[in-house]
Amino acid sequence: METLISPSLLSADFLRLESEIDMINRSEADWLHLDVMDGVFVPNISFGFPVMEAVSKQCKKPLDVHFMIVHPEHYIAQTAKLGAMMMCVHAEACTHLHRTVQEIHSAGMRAGVALNPATPVVSLEDIVKDVDMVLLMSVNPGFGGQQFIENTIEKIGRLRELIHQKGSHALIEVDGGVQEETAPRLVKAGADVLVSGSYLFRSADPAATISKLKHLER
Ligand code: DX5
Ligand code: ZN
Repeated sequence: METLISPSLLSADFLRLESEIDMINRSEADWLHLDVMDGVFVPNISFGFPVMEAVSKQCKKPLDVHFMIVHPEHYIAQTAKLGAMMMCVHAEACTHLHRTVQEIHSAGMRAGVALNPATPVVSLEDIVKDVDMVLLMSVNPGFGGQQFIENTIEKIGRLRELIHQKGSHALIEVDGGVQEETAPRLVKAGADVLVSGSYLFRSADPAATISKLKHLER
């Protein structure tokens, strides 16, 4: 399987969203990553449904929505209505994670579970078989442009082992600090999906950067 690329809109120019999305539409990007923050689960606020509805009308790529909020289960129906392909919730934010995953599936979406850097892979032992993706945060969630946390590389290995052991089909997505130096190592370590925000949008030719990330040797 080739690496899937999910550009994070958080680092796009919000004054020129239409042309940023058109660039993504024309590029080799597989998905569009949308970061929803509530100022409670993470110390920052990003955007919500009015913005995502506008984006969904313009974007031709499947939407990969990453909720960094408390009570993401309150927004399952609204996210499905948006036409999202993937709804990803934080394990740390869900008291009844199994129920939330079931509800995401019942709403017709793929279900992803995100882990903060300090949350161990073993915490997914009893749910990994039921999820379509595990998102490993490789920075503390809340901001773009942070430094990559090295421990993520070996965490991918432990997650791959758990996925195999449990017979899960979950994809491994890595989010945070993905750039020129870390991306090749992440792909070699077994990442299936790379999220990239600041590195990608600040590069001279973002579409070319997307292609470069996509074709790294696995
Ligand atoms: C951070 C978000 C990321 C962010 C990544 O909390 O989940 O998706 O946009 O940004 P970079 O690629 O700049 O680290
Ligand atoms: Zn994200």
